[in-house]
Amino acid sequence: MVMQKGTKILPAEGKLGVLLPGLGAVATTVIAGVEAVRRGLGNPKKKPIGSLTQMGRIRLGKRTENRNPYIRDFVPLSQLEDIVFGGWDIFPDNAYEAAAHAGVLSREDLGELRPHLEAVRPMPGVFDPSYVKKLNGTFVKQGASKRQLAEQLMVDIANFKRDNELARCVAVWCASTEVYQQPSACHASLDAFEKGLDENDEHIAPSAIYAYACLKSGVPYANGAPNLSLDFPAMIELAKRQSLPICGKDFKTGQTLMKTVLAPTLKARCLGLEGWYSTNILGNRDGEVLDDPESFKTKEMSKLGALEYILQPHLYPDLYEHFHHVVRINYYPPRGDNKEGWDNIDIFGWLGYPMQIKIDFLCRDSILAAPIVLDLALFMDLAQRAGMSGIQEWLSFYFKTPMTAPSLYPEHDLFIQLMKLKNTLRYLRGEELITHLGAEYYD
Ligand SMILES: NC(=O)c1ccc[n+]([C@@H]2O[C@H](COP(=O)([O-])OP(=O)(O)OC[C@H]3O[C@@H](n4cnc5c(N)ncnc54)[C@H](O)[C@@H]3O)[C@@H](O)[C@H]2O)c1
Repeated sequence: MVMQKGTKILPAEGKLGVLLPGLGAVATTVIAGVEAVRRGLGNPKKKPIGSLTQMGRIRLGKRTENRNPYIRDFVPLSQLEDIVFGGWDIFPDNAYEAAAHAGVLSREDLGELRPHLEAVRPMPGVFDPSYVKKLNGTFVKQGASKRQLAEQLMVDIANFKRDNELARCVAVWCASTEVYQQPSACHASLDAFEKGLDENDEHIAPSAIYAYACLKSGVPYANGAPNLSLDFPAMIELAKRQSLPICGKDFKTGQTLMKTVLAPTLKARCLGLEGWYSTNILGNRDGEVLDDPESFKTKEMSKLGALEYILQPHLYPDLYEHFHHVVRINYYPPRGDNKEGWDNIDIFGWLGYPMQIKIDFLCRDSILAAPIVLDLALFMDLAQRAGMSGIQEWLSFYFKTPMTAPSLYPEHDLFIQLMKLKNTLRYLRGEELITHLGAEYYD
């Protein structure tokens, strides 16, 4: 990441296009939510709750100084009024139809926003059913090669920018989780990737074609799902070459959010862990896609990583050497988007005496994810205007499997992630970093 203390940040002038591959539950909830907030809708609860950029403050200087501006007043972010949403899907439903199908927001809320949402129509997607086995897309691009598909996406982006008179664009992947794959030869360098596009290399996923097309078009890219679309050398090389920020992967919303709060607590108190069993019931389309073992594997790998990195069993063998970690997701249609995530945590304390913690999080997946999409769009745009390129580790706060520089392990502890994010903002504005070193700095 390239940045300087007190960096010159270009102003957030003009309109910002937010491109969302995948106009499903998460994407339509953020589009509807931003419009609801813009209009006020006469209800004090219709606020961008959960969004750090809109609701969060940042402490500056010493505690005695009482300087706690809103983040949105501290760094120059685009205004919600200046955001224009667009996107792609493999079904032709407009954002109103897709939101009604997803069933996240009430009919009453959707009714008030209907004309606005109906005007958001997807562009046809790039799709390959071998990457998402449970869906049979009908609204898809045709092309003789993956290169041609990428070029069609680039034309879409250019048209979207021109038609909406946008100053800048950012993209956040909100489409279905693709099957699990490890990087292969075509991911190793940009040359190899482009050759793979020409030769229709089977290892290039549709999601990677979107990422490539966005970066080639000068659009920063965030990956909200765990699939392999951005996190490999070819794409990192392209981002650097284009001087663009990238980040991923897999929004940290419910169960993993709680895990990355609780696991650091156990470690902080040197309490041992015998096992952590996490299970979910979920009935939305995401749940249906994840019912396929290969898509689930991608999600499972993403969800499993956090504990190992936080607890560091190699450094704390007495406490964490042999813990069992199990993650399950069960597709259960009656629940729709209202996921229930259970955690049973078997811990041990003084002289090895066992204890248990139970968490039952009755959450709403897209209600938790929507503010993350908004924050990522605004922060990625800020990063670009501040000249920050490559992997944006300071945005790890938002991800289950944060992307890092190749030699670094990811930081999963939510509060370290938050400190890193806020210190990055302080640094950008030339403010003192808060390190918690001395009592006078304690937050
Ligand atoms: N909601 C959460 O809490 C959360 C957390 C982490 C990650 N995610 C991820 O975010 C993504 C979106 O979740 P969701 O609940 O909105 O799912 P969803 O199934 O409601 O929406 C996904 C949309 O993507 C479309 N799609 C699939 N492949 C596509 C392609 N190649 N191009 C364009 N569109 C495509 C589908 O038709 C669908 O409309 C999923 O990958 C999910 O795993 C969600």
